[in-house]
Amino acid sequence: MTTDQIREARSALAGGGPLVVLSGAGMSAESGVPTFRDAQTGLWERYDPTELATPEAWRRDPDTAWAWYRWREHLVSGARPNAGHLAVARAAAARDVVVVTQNVDDLHERAGSPVVHHLHGSLFAHRCDSCSTPMEVGPPPEQAVDRLAPPLCACGGRARPGVVWFGEMLPSGPWEAAVSAIELAAAVLVVGTSGLVHPAASLPDLAAGAGIPVVEVNPGPSGLGPTVTVHVRATAGEAVPALLD
Ligand code: OAD
Repeated sequence: MTTDQIREARSALAGGGPLVVLSGAGMSAESGVPTFRDAQTGLWERYDPTELATPEAWRRDPDTAWAWYRWREHLVSGARPNAGHLAVARAAAARDVVVVTQNVDDLHERAGSPVVHHLHGSLFAHRCDSCSTPMEVGPPPEQAVDRLAPPLCACGGRARPGVVWFGEMLPSGPWEAAVSAIELAAAVLVVGTSGLVHPAASLPDLAAGAGIPVVEVNPGPSGLGPTVTVHVRATAGEAVPALLD
């Protein structure tokens, strides 16, 4: 992170108008929540998404997928918001801040951000896989297990995680809220996403197409490329406080 990058990024974000923060897994990495695609540590380096995160995988072997998502719930429950989440929450004291996240954790909410739209759902919002009724399923096991039977709904369906799987539609409410927030934004701050998963990855393009400055915080390269007005090569915990405080 260079001082020039910080100066340019702060100037792109200045002005006090509505700010949209679009976050991905890198936002929560310093809280100890693994990302998906980072070499060595990313979840998709160790697990096959087609075995865990598709409707077909669920139909084939719900016990394996349920055990994996309950393990991730346990992991996130023990994690704490990092300096990046906290700086985003503090910024809302001075201007309108809308958080649009691809993350299924609750770290933005626990940091105190008042408005958070979850494009890919939430680890904590279980529902019946048949009738879609929300279900309470109790705390996850303390120990990781390979297989776990999901509790049954009164209708005979199974509890499923409230996350969006590959091949599923995004929930319409959060998506429409995200598009409206971008249309009204004075600036967009993108933090910790590879920019590879659509339609979330098209939101920065939407902003750039409307002439709204897009600042990206990412220690590595991403798929966002020319859409971005200023790149800040640093982690969320280092850069976001430096940009927003
Ligand atoms: P990825 O794992 O694809 O990308 C994480 C990004 O965070 C990478 O570009 C890293 O360089 C960056 N990164 C790593 N550590 C960081 C740090 N400390 N601070 C800032 N950035 C850091 O995660 P997403 O882009 O969020 O979807 O992935 C998008 C979607 O793909 C996820 O929501 C999930 C996944 O499959 C579903 O489950 C539907």
